[in-house]
Amino acid sequence: MNLFIKNIGQLVTVAANGTRVKRGAQMRELHIHTNASLLIRDGLIAGIGAADDSPPEEMEVLDAAGRTVLPGFVDPHTHTVFAGSRENEFAMRAEGKSYQQIAEAGGGILSTMRAVREATKRDLYRSAERRLNEMLRGGTTTVEIKSGYGLSPEAEMKMLEVIAELRRDHYSTIVGTFLGAHTVPPEYAGDRQGYVDRICDYMMPHVAERKLATFVDVFCETGYFDLKQTEQIILEAKRHGLVPKLHADQLTAMGATELGAKHGAISVDHLEQMTPAGIDALRNSETIATVLPGCSLFLNHPYAPARAVIDAGIPLAIATDFNPGSQMCYSMQMMLTLACTQMRMTPEEAVTAATLNAAAALGMSGAVGSIEPGKQADVVVYDVSDYRTIPYHYGVNHVWKIVKNGVLLDF
Ligand code: NIG
Ligand code: FE
Repeated sequence: MNLFIKNIGQLVTVAANGTRVKRGAQMRELHIHTNASLLIRDGLIAGIGAADDSPPEEMEVLDAAGRTVLPGFVDPHTHTVFAGSRENEFAMRAEGKSYQQIAEAGGGILSTMRAVREATKRDLYRSAERRLNEMLRGGTTTVEIKSGYGLSPEAEMKMLEVIAELRRDHYSTIVGTFLGAHTVPPEYAGDRQGYVDRICDYMMPHVAERKLATFVDVFCETGYFDLKQTEQIILEAKRHGLVPKLHADQLTAMGATELGAKHGAISVDHLEQMTPAGIDALRNSETIATVLPGCSLFLNHPYAPARAVIDAGIPLAIATDFNPGSQMCYSMQMMLTLACTQMRMTPEEAVTAATLNAAAALGMSGAVGSIEPGKQADVVVYDVSDYRTIPYHYGVNHVWKIVKNGVLLDF
């Protein structure tokens, strides 16, 4: 829990002075200390010094030998707990079928739902644990995980219990989201409203009472849940003290972003089809825009208008959206590359979006997302001498050492 990291070439702190979220030009300011050292006490950041300082007392010392240190990545939107896999759909898309066509043919979310309903909690736990280990090896130290592949009270609770067990056991900091409204399960085929009422009247009270989630999410989309149903779920979530966030503007622009802004959603995520009206709505709100560039790459969809969002002064975060259907990659390093090459973001903006702003998208930027005294010591040492090498030299894992809550991990 006590550690001294010396000889850091670039210490990228991302923020100073306790900034909780960054917008506009602030996103380009990474507060980099060159030739620095970092003091960690009791699992928290205790101080920043010069490269050749010595530890103030007897403690473990890590010699970074000129390498680069960043805050652990925060991945604020994932579907990491799931069973089965969907390479058949990947192959169908390669032959020209669209994500929607595959879903309409019984694939998509329902295909994973069938696998999750059959899986044991132990299977779900084990497979998610392996994925979280790989995420951690890639520099991600905080992960949001959604339910949404159970779609019955029992199977949704099973997923949320697995997420809660992972939160208890895993090195990573984990946050749970109830996504009962991911799609309509077969039991309610033809009765979408009946399923929404079931979520509000039965599932959500259980989730809240057992404290199984922090957030409630809705796939607000044509053919999934409309604005009225989404609003009903948002209002019910707030009544239970759960914080709303939305899948918004992924396939069609139907006003989901505007609805999220109106109700103070902590974030609206996806935004591939976002309109100027959506940008206007966010400009007048506290809601964070979370973009998921991996999803655009994997489905060959348009990218969210990240440049316009940042230029409008709206805080922007990046997440992987890791899931078996639309985004089978959990590397935040790769997301930085996509942000810079496909969304016209600078490396500095991408780093801010994947750390401090991503933490803010989970309401956690007081604890994680930057290297500042008093914050959780979640820091990652990369085997590069310039942080820009991380998005530039892509497709490889640049992580050298991971420090989680002040513990130097040995994997
Ligand atoms: O964020 N858009 C909805 N949900 C996921 C995809 C889920 C799936 O296809 O399994 C997403 O892209
Ligand atoms: Fe998603």
